[in-house]
Amino acid sequence: MATVLGIDTSCDDTGVGVVRQGHVLANAVESQTALHARFGGVVPEQASREHLSVLDGVVGRALAEAQLGLGDLDGVAATRGPGLVGALLVGLSYGKALAWGRGLPFVPVHHLEAHVAAAVSGAGVEPPFLCLIASGGHTVLYAVRGWDAILQLGASRDDAAGEAFDKVARLLGLGYPGGPALAALARQGDDTAVPLPRPMARQRGYDFSFSGLKTAVAVLLERHPSLRREDVAASFERTVVEALMGVALRAAEATGLRRLVVAGGVAANDRLRRAAAASGLEVAFPPAALATDNGAMVALAAERRLAAARDRQVELLAVDAVPYLPLGVRADRSASS
Ligand code: KG4
Ligand code: ZN
Repeated sequence: MATVLGIDTSCDDTGVGVVRQGHVLANAVESQTALHARFGGVVPEQASREHLSVLDGVVGRALAEAQLGLGDLDGVAATRGPGLVGALLVGLSYGKALAWGRGLPFVPVHHLEAHVAAAVSGAGVEPPFLCLIASGGHTVLYAVRGWDAILQLGASRDDAAGEAFDKVARLLGLGYPGGPALAALARQGDDTAVPLPRPMARQRGYDFSFSGLKTAVAVLLERHPSLRREDVAASFERTVVEALMGVALRAAEATGLRRLVVAGGVAANDRLRRAAAASGLEVAFPPAALATDNGAMVALAAERRLAAARDRQVELLAVDAVPYLPLGVRADRSASS
């Protein structure tokens, strides 16, 4: 039974997890939310420095939580991209050094594949399935035919869904990150009270767009300052969820794939969970603790690749951090409107 330690420092959370045979033994996350909150968003250079100062301690916390020592590990994994390059470099370099120093195999991991691994692991789902990743940096729909046969059907043409939550939360005077705060406010609102345009309503493809929706909210709030913030939050949340599920359902019809895996930070959203559960598709979501960025999901993704990684160490230890790194192959864009 292999025990793998995974590290994620792709953005503003320092995450270290330990997994064994698909079971999460530890999941330690040190969030930088407070550090970046006063700027209203992540400051990349600050994020790198903070990862550097806390990572060693978070590794110690994860091992203590798992009641293991470094000598119990069979492999080390770290996110190589996509993400903030300086932030990625901290975790990637640490992971390589730890693996090299202990004579363990090192596995570089794609951040989005790690999100997918978090969503499927507990549910025991295997390909083929549709996968919707909705996070602060990405909104992408994949047809996952096999772990090495991933087809990107569509993606956001502008803001990611989580980014839209964050920006609209800011317009509503809520703190950063805005997703959870906006969702909490939305619970007290009427989701039909404020008419908002449904993004990409007439497209035939599988792309998303959220910046127009954010602008529509900004204009509405400016013109009608007396609108109830709860109603705006609920109407916005409903519109985002309908846009996400609309595209996913159309893809399910076209591909015949009836299983939908939802991953990324926005997968923590209750309304999205309810809409997916009611869609008639077989759905899998990550457990709440594994929805937003963490190291356990990196270790979960790495487990599957550990055996193959052992034979490729010279190559894998030379892998660099990459800020922009697509997952899988893109479907013909001409399918989009
Ligand atoms: O996956 P993640 O932790 O980081 C990225 O890789 O981007 O996702 C963070 C995003 C943020 O935009 C946050 O506002 C959003 O996920 N988020 C939510 C909720 N919880 C987190 N959005 C809507 N509802 C939530 N409950
Ligand atoms: Zn993420």
